[in-house]
Formats: sequence, C-alpha cells, structure tokens
Amino acid sequence: MPAEEIIADVYWIGAIDWNVRNFHGYTYNTKRGTTFNAYLILDDKITLIDTVFKPFAQEMLENISSIVSPEKIDYIIVNHLEPDHSGALPRIFEFCPKAKIFGSVKSKEGLYKHYYNQIGLDFQVVKTGDKLHLGKKTLTFIETPMIHWPDSMFTYLIEGEILFSNDAFGQHWASMERFDDQVNETVLMDEALKYYANILWPFSSLILRKIEEIQKLNIPLKIIAPSHGIIWRKNLNKIIQTYLAWAKNETKLKVVIAYETMYGSTEIMAKNIAKGIIDSQVEVKIFDINQIDRTEIIKEMFEAKAYLIGSSTHDNAMLPNMAGFLKFLRGLKPKGKFAGVFGSYGWGGGALKDIEEVLKETGIEIIQNPLAIQYVPDENQIKNCYEYGKDFILKLKKENQQNLNLISS
Ligand code: FEO
Repeated sequence: MPAEEIIADVYWIGAIDWNVRNFHGYTYNTKRGTTFNAYLILDDKITLIDTVFKPFAQEMLENISSIVSPEKIDYIIVNHLEPDHSGALPRIFEFCPKAKIFGSVKSKEGLYKHYYNQIGLDFQVVKTGDKLHLGKKTLTFIETPMIHWPDSMFTYLIEGEILFSNDAFGQHWASMERFDDQVNETVLMDEALKYYANILWPFSSLILRKIEEIQKLNIPLKIIAPSHGIIWRKNLNKIIQTYLAWAKNETKLKVVIAYETMYGSTEIMAKNIAKGIIDSQVEVKIFDINQIDRTEIIKEMFEAKAYLIGSSTHDNAMLPNMAGFLKFLRGLKPKGKFAGVFGSYGWGGGALKDIEEVLKETGIEIIQNPLAIQYVPDENQIKNCYEYGKDFILKLKKENQQNLNLISS
C-alpha cells in the first residue's frame, strides 16, 4: 500500500499483511489479515513513529522513500518494542545510523536485548509529560505500562491533536482503507472488540485508569492512530466510550456454550441445553471448540455474562483441547462471570470435576451443579438438558440481580 497523508506533513508509511492468519505465535487468528501502522512526521526533525514487522521492512522503506530519503530520519519513537512494531528497526538503522531513539525506560532495556549491536545507541528515555520539539510540531509522551507490555507508551502530536496509541484501539484488519469513515463500521467495531478481548482483556483495570487519567488531562483529540488497522478520525468518542465499557467489564445477559465432544453425546447435551436458554429469552451462542476459531469464541465470551462448558470424559479428565482452551481463558483473567458444566462419560467420569476446578481457579463462579450423562442421552435425559438450560438462566438472573444490587448499594 502506498504512503498516505493523514494531516499535513504526517504520513502513514506502514505495511499490510494480507495473508497472515496466525498472530502472536498462534494465540490470535487474524482472519482478515493485519496492518502494521507506522507514521512519519516531516518537520525540522524528521521523525518516525514505530516501524513494522521485519518481513515488511522493505515495504515500509519504499513508503518512506516516496516522501523523504530514509537517510534523513533524525528521530525514531518506539511506542512499543514488540517485534511487530520494532522488527524493521535494524533495517532502518542501515540508512540512518545516527538517528536518536525515544522510548520508555523499559523500552530501552528490551530493545537492546532484541537488537543488540543492530541499532543505534543514542537512546533517550522519556516519561509521561516529556516534550520533544521537532520544529513547528511538538510531541509529548504518555507511559502506558502493561497496556500491554511493560514498555508500552502513547505519543501525542500536540499541533495535529493525534494520539499515536500503538496497540490500544487497534484491530487486526488488512484493508486498502486507512480511516474509520471509509470502512464498514460493524466490521470495524467487531474487529476492535475481538482485539480487545484476545489481547487487552487481562489489562482492563489498567486501561480504565489510563483512559480516565487521559480524560482528566483534557487534551483535544482529532485522531487516534493505532499501530494495527483502521485510524479513528470520525468515531473517536464511540471507540473511547466503548473501551471504557469494555474496561469496566460491562457484559450482556448472554450465555456462551463451549464444548468438546468425542462421539457426539456432549454435543447433543449442548444443543438441548441451548434450547432451554433460548426458551428463556436469553441470547446464547454455541461453539464446538474444535470447529470454531478460538479467537472468535473468546470475543463472544468477553461479552457474555455466563458460560456453560462441556466435555466428554477421557482418562478421568476433560478432553485435551478443552484443557488448552480453558488455560487460555484463564490467562485472560475474566471477572464477574458465572458458569455451569456438563458432559457425557463412559464409566468413572472426571471431566466435570476437572473443568470446575479450572473455572474456580480462573475466578469464575459456578452457579449450578454439573450435569453428567452416561454414554448417550435418552429422551428423558434430553429433557433434563433442556431443563438444565432453563434452570441455569433462573440462577443467572438471580446472581445478576444480586450483583446489580451490590453495585447500587
Ligand atoms: Fe502489536 Fe503488542 O504488538
């Protein structure tokens, strides 16, 4: 994709990865590919904000070269050292070995561990509120540790009122368009949600505090330019308010049923439990975790108030893919969620106890006794599944009401 001017003398010079489908070492399925956004500011000091993943260094260099010779870069801002944003640094330093780097103290530590002997040594540590004068334009910095790495920070261009927010407000989406007023809003918000749920969810309390801290600064904002996906220039308020809601763990009265089945009995249970939930007029989504992209399921789980987790028993434990799935969920540190468990077994059982233990360790409250069925559910047991779904909703509504009462008291 060619470089594109965002405002006068500020350019997008990143790269598009149309083909990537697995990100962060297979922890995120990028069904729409991704973009690596990097930005170039022309002023007395020519400044690069972030770079791109190493395989896309040449694409970024060509974009820079279409505006200015890369030899002329004076400053490089490293908002985040993760290789998808810093991987092209060694290549850049082949052109401008004397460029000065700016980043957080953790960025300095991590950057040289990644690129020992490959990048310039002129590194200036910056902290929140520090200013960098480029000529007519000025940058200021906001440290955002653990959103989502220790080194993370935002950079704000005062004159353009642009917040370069790095991973925050990003989405994995390869597209020809650069701005939110050029794309389908439903898809954009869906990708933003998926990104938040799969990457930023564990850091929600930090994100909430950081947004509130920035709001108190009262800095005017015209553009939020993240390091992945679409740039926000129309719906700024919407994405900020949505992030606030997500960071507060606001959820829907919705149930996600996620299951793994060996011979189909647990699946029969899942579908009939779902019927009971549907007849209770509550939204439900059902996922066979071996068939559906985990990244999509996690997105649905982020929004849902409750989970029903099912697995057949194998060797007195849950099936192995469900074990991995729940381990991933645990890492996301969900808060304020309720659950029940179900599944079929042959003789000794064990999967349901196994699942309950993991859910409890995750901080998810079990609100209903497990439903176990031996071998294949018969007609009566299918009815039991339906009733289990209905009972679960009664309990969920009661818990939800109690929680609401707690919040308002
Ligand atoms: Fe897009 Fe945390 O890297």
